[in-house]
Amino acid sequence: MPCARAEVRLPRDTPEMSSPPADRVVLVTGASAGIGLATAERLSAAGWRVVGASRRGSAPGRSVWKGLVMDVDDDESVHLGVVELLASHGRLDAVVAGAGWGLAGPVEHTPLEDAKAQFETNFFGVVRVVSEALGPMRAGAGGRVVIVSSLAGVVGIPFQSFYSASKFALEGYGEALAYEVAPFGIDVTLVQPGNVRTEFTARRRRVVPPPRDPYDAAMERAVGVMERDEAAGAAPELVARAIEGVLDSHRPPRRVSVGKAGERMGVFAKRLLPYRAFERAARSSLGV
Ligand SMILES: NC(=O)c1ccc[n+]([C@@H]2O[C@H](COP(=O)([O-])OP(=O)(O)OC[C@H]3O[C@@H](n4cnc5c(N)ncnc54)[C@H](OP(=O)(O)O)[C@@H]3O)[C@@H](O)[C@H]2O)c1
Repeated sequence: MPCARAEVRLPRDTPEMSSPPADRVVLVTGASAGIGLATAERLSAAGWRVVGASRRGSAPGRSVWKGLVMDVDDDESVHLGVVELLASHGRLDAVVAGAGWGLAGPVEHTPLEDAKAQFETNFFGVVRVVSEALGPMRAGAGGRVVIVSSLAGVVGIPFQSFYSASKFALEGYGEALAYEVAPFGIDVTLVQPGNVRTEFTARRRRVVPPPRDPYDAAMERAVGVMERDEAAGAAPELVARAIEGVLDSHRPPRRVSVGKAGERMGVFAKRLLPYRAFERAARSSLGV
């Protein structure tokens, strides 16, 4: 049976974003590993009061910031997590929505259930967290929403179509949301990392192929290229630094891409080149 939703009341005179970092509270999702963990560590070291959420609740050996058990796939878990944060800290100034995972497989063989699970975390997980955070931010003096998207939210990645689609969805959502919340002093930024060395690679879920699947060779090649690039990718601390920059900026950008120059070039190439020319150029780096 669904439990009653706890109500949250915030004082109207919550200090502004420009207050010292020590007063500012940030919720980071996906804080038990990778980009979220590096972000929680960096913001905590910079003086933010960090609440780091994940299903594990904490990262082993880390205790400077407060860990919170939260499953972003679950409405009630997200709601109660934000209620707990507000009960402890009385305010919320920023959200870094980083929880996510990857799904690989040919579109033709991907069960709809797997595709929906990908969206449940990567898209609706962000939506749940942001929806809970906006009220407290409006009740205060505004805030910052940082959505961890991906370069895969700009360039479609073969054999990771539903991962890409979930990130493209975030791009549209974040862009639209920005107009709605600007009048309340809330800024939205989409952070687009390229390949980053994290647990993401090992935790990528793969669709089980049928026997003698005609996509097998192409899929292995494409996902293999991606996994090698991730293993040799940027350190998560690079993304954390970019996120801190967004949170500290007076005029945060709507989008920021982070990673190796060659990967980020892809974003510009897609914008500038005729699409067929871009596709031809992208094939080798996508492993197809
Ligand atoms: N690594 C890359 O190359 C790369 C590139 C572009 C974008 N990104 C994006 O960056 C974000 C972070 O990925 P990462 O590379 O840091 O991967 P990671 O090392 O695997 O970390 C993923 C984090 O998300 C959390 N998480 C996953 N499902 C969750 C759920 N249902 N509820 C709450 N937390 C959940 C995990 O914690 P628990 O398992 O403890 O819940 C973990 O803390 C993702 O959105 C990913 O799409 C990554």
